Amino acid sequence: MDQNGALDSLFQEERVFRPLPQLVIEANVNPQELEAYRRQAAQDPLAYWEEAADELDWFKKWDQVLDESNPPFYRWFPGGRCNIVYNALDRHIETANKNKLALIWEGEPGDNRKYTYYELYRAVNRFAGALRSLGVAKGDRVALYMPSLPETVIAMLASAKIGAVHTLVFAGFSPKALRERLRDSGARLLVTADGFYRNGQVIQLKPLVDEALAGAEAERVDSVVVVRRTKVDVEMQDGRDFWYDDLVRNERNEAPTEVMEAGDPLFLLHTSGATGRPKGILHSHGGYMVGVHRTLTHVFDIKPTDIFWCTADPGWITGHTAVVYGPLLAGTTTVLYEGHPNYPQADRLWHIVDKYGVTIFYTVPTMIRMLMRFGVQYPRRHDLSTLRLLGTVGEPIGPEPWMWFYKNIGRSECPLLDTWWQTETGMFMLAPLPISLLKPGSVTKPLPGVEADVVDRDGNSLPSGKGGFLVIRRPWPAMAAGILGDEERFRREYYEAIPGGAYFAGDVAKKDEDGFFWIQGRADDVLNIAGHRVGTAELEAAFGSHPAVCEAAVVGVPDAIKGEAAKAFLVLNPGFQGSTDLIQDLKRHVRGELGPVAAIKGIEFRETLPRTRSGKIMRRVLKARELNVDPGDLTMLDQE
Ligand code: WT7
Repeated sequence: MDQNGALDSLFQEERVFRPLPQLVIEANVNPQELEAYRRQAAQDPLAYWEEAADELDWFKKWDQVLDESNPPFYRWFPGGRCNIVYNALDRHIETANKNKLALIWEGEPGDNRKYTYYELYRAVNRFAGALRSLGVAKGDRVALYMPSLPETVIAMLASAKIGAVHTLVFAGFSPKALRERLRDSGARLLVTADGFYRNGQVIQLKPLVDEALAGAEAERVDSVVVVRRTKVDVEMQDGRDFWYDDLVRNERNEAPTEVMEAGDPLFLLHTSGATGRPKGILHSHGGYMVGVHRTLTHVFDIKPTDIFWCTADPGWITGHTAVVYGPLLAGTTTVLYEGHPNYPQADRLWHIVDKYGVTIFYTVPTMIRMLMRFGVQYPRRHDLSTLRLLGTVGEPIGPEPWMWFYKNIGRSECPLLDTWWQTETGMFMLAPLPISLLKPGSVTKPLPGVEADVVDRDGNSLPSGKGGFLVIRRPWPAMAAGILGDEERFRREYYEAIPGGAYFAGDVAKKDEDGFFWIQGRADDVLNIAGHRVGTAELEAAFGSHPAVCEAAVVGVPDAIKGEAAKAFLVLNPGFQGSTDLIQDLKRHVRGELGPVAAIKGIEFRETLPRTRSGKIMRRVLKARELNVDPGDLTMLDQE
């Protein structure tokens, strides 16, 4: 809601950006074709997605496009047999893509490694063989606690290749958060690294793994594979820990690709919800590959010569879809950078664009806001003329960062594509194509085959200009198959929050008269910190586990760089006094519980917390006071 004012004024200004004529001529999908896709998808969505599925390779075609007999557990392409890795790698080895670069990796110190499709294919096969040698079989879970390294991509693909289910835990999560996710996933094997480079320093990772695995709960993990990146000394536990290099050395360059049912799970990825327990979102081979391939190739207009760079960490859904699977399915070249965007200076990203001739650059608004602060002298030092498309994702982008990015990075020529999607949607849902009209701050329209709407609490469609809840009315191929081990929660949180059976995205949005969508923020108790979801409940539990804290309430407050940050209101236990020392200690404690992802902006001590008669903490009252607005303005956010 925070950017409401700014968006409103812009909205009134009606600034519209049109693509250059040359771009429209060269686009893979021109405006007439996009209209035709929209019409076809509206009339017969299943035929639309069936055509998209036909663009990929299947071991056996589906019996049915969509089985809707047990909503909300929709099954895409039942009867179909495939493997996403066959489409992301194996099939390219038979074409001119074989010797094309699949992956360009740049380490923070400036070292780099490049893999052609053939080289990546072989590396994946060797690690797939290693996983099999360690006893990993179809359906087993493989956890990755990895920085951005080529081996991260390799391990994801190798797991999927043998039918195992990968589950990445972002390396910025604490050992405790890692342990919780390992327990939930039931992972048998964990892939990690000795450490990585970040901001000129070596960050050690292996000791955090040892900490997470100490104790009975994590006993299911019987093997740990360690990638040697920094050569720091690490302790290796005999019989449990293996060096990656030792494992792959004697493996073969060929390994069979497991034949999967379309609905077999591909990966599990945890995200925050309104309760203290993160949800393990499941995606499957068939639907995910079809949805991601179609939307990524359409939105980013992938050409054979592109070099595609999405700055996300592989540990988030953006990394899964837009760093690894999407670009490789499309047969393009994907870029991965290990380190900090400001190392050694605030031009590192522009340096990388220049060095490799990146053509498509996709990032989060937080990054743009941060780089904007350093000034235009940094991008000006570099040749950014290879760029042809820009994209953002993860949070609403305000008009100012939009314009800065568009002008100073995109030369006022490159379309800036604001894409709306989620961990649960797997693929881009609302987004422009390069040929679309753009309004800064709007994610424009639903993609063909996606039926989105803005509704009130009762599920009634709202007229343009009115804010409400974003819903998706029809199933889409890359939709989550469920929450691991909790069908009920999946049904309740996504399909029963609003009457009518539509998918509830958890966002507040509005439509304008032209049918453009404007996303305004989360509708639930989830913060969006630097484009990452952190649940207030998780933060409150982390505060609550400190001995000084009796009760905690956390709200999101605006932050100039991260978009949103957490502000905590705490009632202390008897005998504790609020002090700056305690504040420091609390911040350290919460960081230890959740990891650096939990950005705390302020801590305020109080005698009591505002509550409803039924005892629920009224966070919106705290938030309204914090933002100096009338709490009545926020009633829509009230989830009671
Ligand atoms: C939430 C999903 C897959 C993207 C990375 C985040 C917010 C996402 C936009 C956008 C405004 C956006 C929403 C959404 N969000 N894209 N273009 N404009 N807000 O994935 O962690 O699953 O979070 O990110 O609030 O619900 P995620």
